Amino acid sequence: MRITDTVKYVGVNDRKLDLFEGHYIVPNGMAYNSYIISGEKTAVCDSVGEGFGDEWLENIKRETGGKPVDFLVVHHMEPDHSSNIIRFAQAYPEARIAGSEKAFAMMKRFYGTDFSDRRILLSKDGDRLDLGGRELITVTAPMVHWPEVIMTYDTKDGILFSADAFGKFGTTDTDEEWDCEARRYYFGIVGKYGMQVRSVLKKLSQYDIRGICPLHGPALTEDLDHYLGLYDIWSDYRPETDGVFIGYTSVYGHTAQAVRELCGILESRGVKYEAMDLAREDMAEAVENSFRYSRIVLATTTYNMDVFPPMKTLLSSLAERGFRNRRIALIENGTWAPNAAKVMRETLSSMKDITFFDTTVTIQSSLNESSREALKKLGDELCMPL
Ligand SMILES: Cc1cc2nc3c(=O)[nH]c(=O)nc-3n(C[C@H](O)[C@H](O)[C@H](O)COP(=O)(O)O)c2cc1C
Repeated sequence: MRITDTVKYVGVNDRKLDLFEGHYIVPNGMAYNSYIISGEKTAVCDSVGEGFGDEWLENIKRETGGKPVDFLVVHHMEPDHSSNIIRFAQAYPEARIAGSEKAFAMMKRFYGTDFSDRRILLSKDGDRLDLGGRELITVTAPMVHWPEVIMTYDTKDGILFSADAFGKFGTTDTDEEWDCEARRYYFGIVGKYGMQVRSVLKKLSQYDIRGICPLHGPALTEDLDHYLGLYDIWSDYRPETDGVFIGYTSVYGHTAQAVRELCGILESRGVKYEAMDLAREDMAEAVENSFRYSRIVLATTTYNMDVFPPMKTLLSSLAERGFRNRRIALIENGTWAPNAAKVMRETLSSMKDITFFDTTVTIQSSLNESSREALKKLGDELCMPL
């Protein structure tokens, strides 16, 4: 598949994968991307996941017309990209393997060899791989999202080979908007490393990027400011969408009823909102939405003086990813000693730049006049500009 006249796609689509990285649901499968770059010499960028070696090597053979390949560039060592390095090395015994020193150390640990006789180190910013007529310039990207990661910038077509950055869930032929599944992917997988992402974005600003070829999802060839702009917002933990995300849990339905009534208030005021039942819906999407929206409402039942387990999971997932810089409202429910708001407030207070809306709604079992009044007050606060 053509990206440019001299850059071709040779990756594969995994349509059967149930869970990416062991826990992310991928209803539209996953792509393991690989590219061929042709100068006077030819480089393949990254291998593909286990079980796809034959298809990948066939793709390479088809695109090269069976000619030799000179280099395999290893941008990232996660097994979904590195599982077929050995197969490649056997199929192309003359080819040299390029990557960071840390990547070779991982190769030894994963596959028992670090190719000391045929390796090329691309470990430092500015290290170059000369393909004849074009060069790949190294941009180190530690913790985006493993320590060994490098990106490379192609001097001929201005393409950034971005490793996992700018990737998304879903096969390359999935017909869906990029933003949503790229955001879920980003906050799930790289979210914790905003600072590192920002440092890479800064380094990249010196290059005239005309295309981005990530290791998952589609190659990006148009409207690059949109994707770079979103990465700027996400990595800075700034809200992307002015609106309200409500994450809630409910055992018997009364907290859910309060959330429905709150949604009614927001709806009537024309405020954009999204509500998710944390026990029933995808937690990675709840994490994504928490980072996406400017205002957050967390509503949960008191559960043995703590919060209901899926709310605990959301809170710890947010803490793990450096959640910060948001205004949060709390709704709690409890039949004899409501305590969930206190627990949520304490957990959230340990995160950076978190503020709370004035009104905390306490429901004792089911909504009554006074809790309904508090809910309305909270609705008013949520509708005011921040
Ligand atoms: C296992 C379990 C533990 C609970 N622990 C507490 C508690 O510590 N304090 C309290 O006030 N209510 C506790 N509750 C009661 C619920 O918080 C309460 O009934 C609440 O109204 C449920 O709201 P819901 O209708 O949205 O599920 C507990 C309920 C269950 C099932």
